[in-house]
Amino acid sequence: MKILAIETSCDETAVAVLEATEGEAGTNFVVLGNALLSQIELHKEYGGVYPALAKREHAKNLVPLLEAALSEAGLLIEDTQTMAPAVHEKIVEILEREPGLTELFLASLTEMEVPAIDAIAVTSGPGLEPALWVGVNFARALATAWNKLLVSVNHMEGHIVSALTTSPDKITLSLPAPKLPLLSLLISGGHTELVLSKNWLSYELIGQTRDDAVGEAFDKVARMLGLPYPGGPEVSKLAERARERGGVQEFVLPRPMLHDPNFDFSFSGLKTAVLYLSKDKDLSVEQKENLALAFEGAAADVLYAKTKRALEETGAESLALGGGVSANTHIKRVFRERLAKEMPHVSLFTPDAYLTGDNAIMIALAGYYRAKNSEFADLETLRANGNMSLS
Ligand code: KG4
Ligand code: ZN
Repeated sequence: MKILAIETSCDETAVAVLEATEGEAGTNFVVLGNALLSQIELHKEYGGVYPALAKREHAKNLVPLLEAALSEAGLLIEDTQTMAPAVHEKIVEILEREPGLTELFLASLTEMEVPAIDAIAVTSGPGLEPALWVGVNFARALATAWNKLLVSVNHMEGHIVSALTTSPDKITLSLPAPKLPLLSLLISGGHTELVLSKNWLSYELIGQTRDDAVGEAFDKVARMLGLPYPGGPEVSKLAERARERGGVQEFVLPRPMLHDPNFDFSFSGLKTAVLYLSKDKDLSVEQKENLALAFEGAAADVLYAKTKRALEETGAESLALGGGVSANTHIKRVFRERLAKEMPHVSLFTPDAYLTGDNAIMIALAGYYRAKNSEFADLETLRANGNMSLS
């Protein structure tokens, strides 16, 4: 099955084409085409993602990225197409709320053959709603123009399934069926969640943050230390430098809710503790590094402790880390080392570096499983949902 996938939930615009085949040990995927444009540089001056700008950039870039992905896949065949008036009218109606997209769309699609794909998958949530809508309407318009099946994908399911893949070369990916129950720790700019899958592709939310998401805390701490957006990788770099100097424990930070008998998290107290230690203080470079070290250590300890409790109480056999924060070297190390010692029967899955941030490959992976289950979306009623949940 060939799937075209579209991702616009935040500040990455991405289109990918994957081919999936069922093998003996699981599913094998080949990335036929992959085109991604990050808007990070544009959002930096706002110190975070600015939704109206994200929406405009998605609308501007989706058509060129579609052409790039199809071309790489060898599926862009130039040909003059005449569009039936009813189809043309429907597309204009669907794209009405996406300024700038209609003309680009029609100009491009009247110059290419319908590509040989089986379905179109699109992220419909969660994320920034104005940004999500661009992708959703683009996918609806494509499905109309090409008469293809449409699949609605939950962005977080994309993060989970991409963590389960192994990919030696960034082109072929294999996804062996994980041992169930599977526990997923989803850590990103908008989410900190523990999700239990007793069955494949079914989810039960068992814990979440009561305030800030862990990625959000990283981003805010970065700002306190005078670092640019997105702050996660910047804080991590500082902490790594402190570690190289021998990991001086200059600051002691709280580990919120560490011993509470539940699977919930809280990061706002930790963030405030960093604020208290840094505000109006003229910290030296080394002190900032030591503070980053203390923050990253506290965040990793809390994430690990709550996840371990959840593994024990649910009897999960597999653990997937997913979302932007799963790129963090220290967090991955804490999980790898402590699990190997304390719960060696649990298999740990982390995404390859090129799959940790938002991308369309992960949307194609999740979209494939939904399409395989014949879970198709209705073109007329598909909506973007910024708060979409997994369960
Ligand atoms: O999944 P993602 O790309 O977008 C969302 O869906 O939110 O996650 C972005 C978040 C940002 O908060 C960013 O600072 C954080 O992931 N992040 C990191 C690292 N790389 C990205 N946080 C900690 N350490 C990192 N290396
Ligand atoms: Zn994400």
